[in-house]
Amino acid sequence: MIKSIYRLSIIKVCILVLLGSYSCQNNATNSSTIDAGVNAKIDSLVSQLSLAEKVSMLHGNSKFSTAAVERLGIPNLKLSDGPHGVREEILPHAWDPAGWTNDSSTYFPTGTALSATWNPSLALATGEALGEQARARNKDILLGPGVNIQRTPLCGRNFEYMSEDPLLNAVMCVPYIKGIQSKDVAACVKHWAVNNQETNRTTVDTYLSERALQEIYFPAFKAAVQEGEVYTIMGAYNKFRGVYCCESKYLLRDVLRDDWGFEGIVISDWDATHSTVDAANNGLDLEMGTVVDNYDDYYFANPLIKAVENGDVKEEIIDEKVKSILRVMLKTNMFEANRNAGSYNTPEHYQAAYNVAAEAIVLLKNDKALLPLDKNQIKSIAVIGDNATRKHCEGGFSSSVKAKYEITPLEGLKKELNEDVKVEFAQGYEKTSQLNNFVLSANNTVNEKLIQEAVKKAATCDVAIIFGGLNHDYDSEGLDRPDMKLPYGQDVLIQEVLKANPNTIVVMHAGSPVDMSSFANQVPSIVWGWLNGSEGGRAMANVLFGKVNPSGKMPFTLPVKLDDSPAHHLNLFPGENNIAKYEEDILVGYRWFDTRNIKPLYAFGHGLSYTSFDFSDVSLSQKEVSSSEEISINVTVTNTGKTDGAEVVQLYSHLEDSKVLRSEKELRAFKKVFLKAGTTKTITLKIDAKDLSYFEESTNSWKLEAGNYQLMIGNSSDNILLSKEVSINQ
Ligand code: BGC
Repeated sequence: MIKSIYRLSIIKVCILVLLGSYSCQNNATNSSTIDAGVNAKIDSLVSQLSLAEKVSMLHGNSKFSTAAVERLGIPNLKLSDGPHGVREEILPHAWDPAGWTNDSSTYFPTGTALSATWNPSLALATGEALGEQARARNKDILLGPGVNIQRTPLCGRNFEYMSEDPLLNAVMCVPYIKGIQSKDVAACVKHWAVNNQETNRTTVDTYLSERALQEIYFPAFKAAVQEGEVYTIMGAYNKFRGVYCCESKYLLRDVLRDDWGFEGIVISDWDATHSTVDAANNGLDLEMGTVVDNYDDYYFANPLIKAVENGDVKEEIIDEKVKSILRVMLKTNMFEANRNAGSYNTPEHYQAAYNVAAEAIVLLKNDKALLPLDKNQIKSIAVIGDNATRKHCEGGFSSSVKAKYEITPLEGLKKELNEDVKVEFAQGYEKTSQLNNFVLSANNTVNEKLIQEAVKKAATCDVAIIFGGLNHDYDSEGLDRPDMKLPYGQDVLIQEVLKANPNTIVVMHAGSPVDMSSFANQVPSIVWGWLNGSEGGRAMANVLFGKVNPSGKMPFTLPVKLDDSPAHHLNLFPGENNIAKYEEDILVGYRWFDTRNIKPLYAFGHGLSYTSFDFSDVSLSQKEVSSSEEISINVTVTNTGKTDGAEVVQLYSHLEDSKVLRSEKELRAFKKVFLKAGTTKTITLKIDAKDLSYFEESTNSWKLEAGNYQLMIGNSSDNILLSKEVSINQ
């Protein structure tokens, strides 16, 4: 063993000599900057590989790795999930844990929580920490971020994804990718493409207009490729326009490579490959799998060798794939002796997780200014609900994290309060569901006994805080929720506790919308707490007691009821006969609610603060711009309250007399601004005139209509405070 490692390192040194001076100290280096010399050397390496060796690099040889070519010092690729923590080590050929004792990692707030910060610098910090941890675990590719659009409130994987809005999605995923890749690890943006439901996820066939694709479903992937320079992308399970994503010429060649210039590795989702010849010719590079354990039988193993031998796949196609892999190996410094060694569970990693958690928490409602709570006024709190003590790190399948620790809300509160305030816990409701093999069995009966205990405690305490929402039986890969209702009789619990104590605060821990219509008007304060990572409970206690002023904003709409949201209103979910038609088209999320005048419970972009902000003096760099120009919008923001805080300035656009359907509002830019109490800042938001274009299907191109566009500034999609008109000339 030692001998073979030694041999491998000698060969690696030879390869380095062969590759000359190429170094990827700056990992954000554009692929185009790999000079011709290096390409020539990659070519030379490829020319020394036999067909069998090349093909051995194109498929998994365990659940999460590929084969090395030791003879030439080419290392194997080691992959790991996932988006919010490096997954625990599993056995090479089975899904069971490998039983390591040193693989517990930091659990970061999940995708929706990260997006709720509206703070790209936190996405960068998350990516950097994940990259360092991945390296410390000797991984080369980290399987995230997940950027599928949250098309329906019911999608089981909403918690992993970032938003219903393409811009927020794109802006948050780019720094996350750059952060990971700056640590010599390849990110893997997933799942390409239109993988927006889990129902029949491996077979469902998705149809939608080219316009909706380009305007809603593609932008985050495009930004990942062109701005994030992501090294790898994962082909999705589903079909798109009749063809499996992992063999779609349109997705893998025409869009990804030809239009966007992607030069990295297209990796199949696990068992998402369905053919040898089509998948190979149309642009899949690496087949990964779950089911077949004879790796030689994979589509991209012996059958691929045969397909080359009988002329169905040209050897140049194989070479193209191997080159993509070698390119990523080079960019992640896999041949370098001084490759980033990473670090694990450092205080900085936990600080990053805490910072995200603290900025993710959204204050939805605070009518009686019940929050923040004051330790000097409050002597007792009833802490109620299963989510007060439940850890969410494990579960949800591939994104599950074996966390070194996760502070629950109850622990967070106890730590924060010491002996100052009496904390009384009551479970309130019981998790009576079970998820086995992606099948949910749930018993939704109300547990009267637990409710009575909770009511008793609530009645004798100054304040009651109910920690409810979902858990990973519902927020999970592999299935969509049956409805938007809160499980386990939580609606009844909330009503009963509220009767016993009017000072009741509801905190929702969930990665997807839930129906809060039965209590939202009556409860004085509602907080959204997400699946918020290792430090979530500490962040929550600090928000509730005012050490942290909440600044999160919803990255998705919270509908009053499921039927208000587009795919459900139009009866399009989950599709008929395994075909999902996205006939709501571009009207996804708030675009639908605003355009159809349907009032949501809480709008996209909504989130309150313990202080107040005033927006004033909006001005434009110019009133008339041409299609190639940039528009700058200045706005002055003042913290008019007594507490330091942060506000997210959101810029939306609208064109009144458009020739095509336009949604009432579209997010065009945003900036989070931190202001000490009483201070003022003027900020500038910049957009290119061409950002106001729509995708014209007849010409298959972006079209900027001339006209007068409203540029609206607000602190939520339903709270526009200022607006200006800009005239676009052609
Ligand atoms: C998921 C991917 C994940 C892969 C490997 C699949 O089931 O869809 O997101 O990365 O498994 O665990």
